[in-house]
Amino acid sequence: MSQAAGDVFGQRFVTVGWRLDRSPGMAQDRVSGVPVNATESALAELRAYCDVAVRHSYDQYEKHGTLHEKAHIAFHDDAVWKQTWVPDEFDVTDARLHPVFQETFTDRQRLAWNHFMWALDYSSIAQGERQIIVLNNFAVQHYGRVLPSVVELERRESFEETDHISAFAMVIEGVRQRYVGGTKPIWSVAASGFGSNSVNTVVRQAIGRLGNFVMGSNFPTLFFLARGMKTHGMKPFENAITRFEGGHKAIRMISHLHRLDESRHMATSLYLAQLSAAALDTMPKDNAFIFKQAVKAAFPPGRSSLYRLDYWKRVLDTADVYADVPQVEKDALFAHMSERIEANLASLHTVQTHVTRQANKRIVEECGLSPDMKRLFVEVMRQDPAYAATVDAVVLPEVGEA
Ligand SMILES: [Fe+2]
Ligand SMILES: [Fe+2]
Repeated sequence: MSQAAGDVFGQRFVTVGWRLDRSPGMAQDRVSGVPVNATESALAELRAYCDVAVRHSYDQYEKHGTLHEKAHIAFHDDAVWKQTWVPDEFDVTDARLHPVFQETFTDRQRLAWNHFMWALDYSSIAQGERQIIVLNNFAVQHYGRVLPSVVELERRESFEETDHISAFAMVIEGVRQRYVGGTKPIWSVAASGFGSNSVNTVVRQAIGRLGNFVMGSNFPTLFFLARGMKTHGMKPFENAITRFEGGHKAIRMISHLHRLDESRHMATSLYLAQLSAAALDTMPKDNAFIFKQAVKAAFPPGRSSLYRLDYWKRVLDTADVYADVPQVEKDALFAHMSERIEANLASLHTVQTHVTRQANKRIVEECGLSPDMKRLFVEVMRQDPAYAATVDAVVLPEVGEA
């Protein structure tokens, strides 16, 4: 590995030590300056990375156990319901600033809101991870021929995501039983794919199969680009929850352990977004129409505000804990939230500004898409104010300049 392995899972992405060029023989080892074949160097880089990443995963699980066990511990402590779980300012709807929240809500209702915030974030993460478990396999399908250790790594990452989902589901169900009652569901709709979870369950296999066929190596490149950006978007929030002094210890531990796994997943995403075009023996297929649809499936227009507002509307209207709040007051609160969310999502959250901006700049600028597809990616993202903020630092060469 041309970069110290210690950097791989740290606060910053690893610097991949080869400058890649799709024309064979043009890449150079940064250290020796010796020309190397781009495909060979990409495969060597990935092989070394995969070995380290799989080993770290086993070591971590041996040391800390599963995330599901941590969730179990949290729910054997009654204090979990007496403490807040996340910093209040994470609520991008600014509900806490409205008179209904401040004056009508009781202390119990305000605390429930905080626990609902956790359930919103982690149900949307879990929905994304359900998609990822399936799509991981398809995205690395062609590595089975050229570098099986990538397939093995994705199998391991999918195992970790399964553990994460079961931990989050346990806590979300606890929130639901305590505050919602009956059988009414509270899970948010997915932030990617279709707005219906049952549709996503049915079509994600077909999308995976089709993706490789119609996009060639652009499929794994775009998939890992999107996966990396989404994973990284959550990291500053998990860092803050982990450090959150008012938070419950076991809830903080869930975020801490999850961020350790996700740091590895981010490094994997960066590597595979950057190197797949060179490493795979399938060619990228630059079809602008298909590419645009794929970007929109990963980042559906308007979804960032929609999945949050849909969740809060259901919470306000159906949760037993808010049953005694007059409907007119719920409506006033929800109108305020709908207005504030658009403005708040148009820029990165304060905890994201530095790390997320820089990480996204890097993963987009360095990914293996052609300059035209990179420009198209950024163009599509900038059509939606909530996604535009995530790529605002990206600078790409003008047409003909690359
Ligand atoms: Fe995860
Ligand atoms: Fe992940």
